[in-house]
Amino acid sequence: MVGISRNVFHTPPSLEAGIYRAVRQLPPLPLAQRSNFWPITTALYEPVWRRRSLSLLTCNRCSVSQELTTMLDWLKPEPGEIILDAACSTALYARFLGQRVPGLNLHAVDLSFGFLQRAKAYAEREGIELNLVEAEVGDLPYRDGVFDAIVCGGSLNEFIDLERTLFDLGRVLKPRGRLWLMLVQRSRNPFGRSLQALLQTTGLSFPCPETVSSIAATAGLKLIKQRRVVDIAFNLFEQGENDDHLQTPEGPIKQVR
Ligand SMILES: C[S@@+](CC[C@H](N)C(=O)[O-])C[C@H]1O[C@@H](n2cnc3c(N)ncnc32)[C@H](O)[C@@H]1O
Repeated sequence: MVGISRNVFHTPPSLEAGIYRAVRQLPPLPLAQRSNFWPITTALYEPVWRRRSLSLLTCNRCSVSQELTTMLDWLKPEPGEIILDAACSTALYARFLGQRVPGLNLHAVDLSFGFLQRAKAYAEREGIELNLVEAEVGDLPYRDGVFDAIVCGGSLNEFIDLERTLFDLGRVLKPRGRLWLMLVQRSRNPFGRSLQALLQTTGLSFPCPETVSSIAATAGLKLIKQRRVVDIAFNLFEQGENDDHLQTPEGPIKQVR
């Protein structure tokens, strides 16, 4: 990893083994989040689960490669832009963007140092330059309005304080900055809802996309596009240029399916 521009941080974090560390003390975490610190999870996550996740969750109606292509198509990143992969695990999104668009300035943040080490190893193997930062996405160490775009895949289901997290993501986006958000939504079928009820006991949550959009609106994030495939929702938000949206957080939101 080379060349992070330290002036993006409001408080420069310490650097350890090529990874910036901005977490002083980990908050108490439920089981689902604690498992992200286990070596077996960090080793198996991408090859065993993530590469198959979308096909499994959508009954083969959408693959991970279609997910990645849709993200690229909606986000339209330009060379020179600064992009954050928020709650990145192995930084699959950031690495994909680095492979497809030359000249991006890529940051990837996660709470799990083990996952960041794994992201670093994969990125080095692929020749992708990433700025890796151990941080809490609801308390990012970045200055306001730093990022042209943020990508966040599957992690929202783990966020304990969704309001605080979306607020901080909105804060670090530039005006007109884009946020790609992929999440598992509240299931529409009874079997899926029973399974989700079980998973909720481990600390996961499965909000309706409408709930996410309305919380995002209070953080200045306007829904631009949305696509749902079975229980997966792809969303593209844009940071507003002014505060108009704050006056109508429950106002109608245009949806493109
Ligand atoms: C399901 S994984 C998704 C990873 C990745 N975005 C992807 O597309 O594969 C969830 C990740 O979010 C991270 N995470 C959960 N809550 C977090 C928080 N509050 N701050 C930073 N990272 C968090 C976990 O450590 C874990 O690596």
